[in-house]
Amino acid sequence: MPDGAPGVDAVVPAAPADIATARALAARLSLPYSEVDAPAPGALLLVVEGAGRSLRLTGAGAPGPVAVEFGGGAMRHRRRGGANELLGRAVGVTARRQPRVLDATAGLGRDAFVLADLGAQVALAERQPVVAELLRAGLASAAAARDEWLGAVVGRMTLFEGDARELPLPPCDVIYLDPMFPGRDKSAAVRKEMALFQRLLARQEDDGAELLEWALCQPVSRVVVKRPLRAAELGGRSASHCIRGKAVRYDVHVLKKLPEVPP
Ligand SMILES: C[S@@+](CC[C@H](N)C(=O)[O-])C[C@H]1O[C@@H](n2cnc3c(N)ncnc32)[C@H](O)[C@@H]1O
Repeated sequence: MPDGAPGVDAVVPAAPADIATARALAARLSLPYSEVDAPAPGALLLVVEGAGRSLRLTGAGAPGPVAVEFGGGAMRHRRRGGANELLGRAVGVTARRQPRVLDATAGLGRDAFVLADLGAQVALAERQPVVAELLRAGLASAAAARDEWLGAVVGRMTLFEGDARELPLPPCDVIYLDPMFPGRDKSAAVRKEMALFQRLLARQEDDGAELLEWALCQPVSRVVVKRPLRAAELGGRSASHCIRGKAVRYDVHVLKKLPEVPP
């Protein structure tokens, strides 16, 4: 399997109209291209369907596909939950202050979306090329949805593909890190679709502690780290304070006062 996008076995078109796009995407990601109708069970596929991209595991009992759907029910539901407030508080969003955030571990973009929904400008860095592709498609589909609220939220999100440490640092007041690998959170039942995401990331280096060291050296006001509730502090670094939710906590490393950036 190529190094560029470990974990995915092939890029496949959903319909004949998607063949050219799927071929081009496979070439760009250095992944095999396939049109096989019934691939071997257990294969992880990146499916191209129009402008949409999804990950699908083949075989009986496989979980449903994973795609980035910012306008979907799950994100709208999460919006009404108190968990969003905790994340906003950790990052320092208030009615009078909207810090600019670099989400250096963007993943499927859910936390970044929550922050953008709270009004923050969010730069997203994602180094896994397939995850970045899912995100890119999710952002484009949300922007094209003709939904005023959704368009405004994703309008505050900018995606950068690559390792956050190697990209030029975008203007930001806060660096947000969620280096958690879902499968390592033994306390929580890993949702079926997360198992799929976990497989995609399985070969990544567990370098969250190094990422925190990097973040703490950047010219920002604070660094926020999402951790499982009872996990040790990342890299053994003591936070200035913690904000605790039911399943996760946010370790806040305050470096200097947040600037007053009006909403
Ligand atoms: C646990 S997921 C983040 C989930 C995300 N907070 C969300 O709400 O969907 C971690 C992600 O960070 C990415 N990642 C880890 N280290 C990174 C780095 N140094 N630069 C960019 N992306 C990184 C991984 O590829 C993975 O997709």
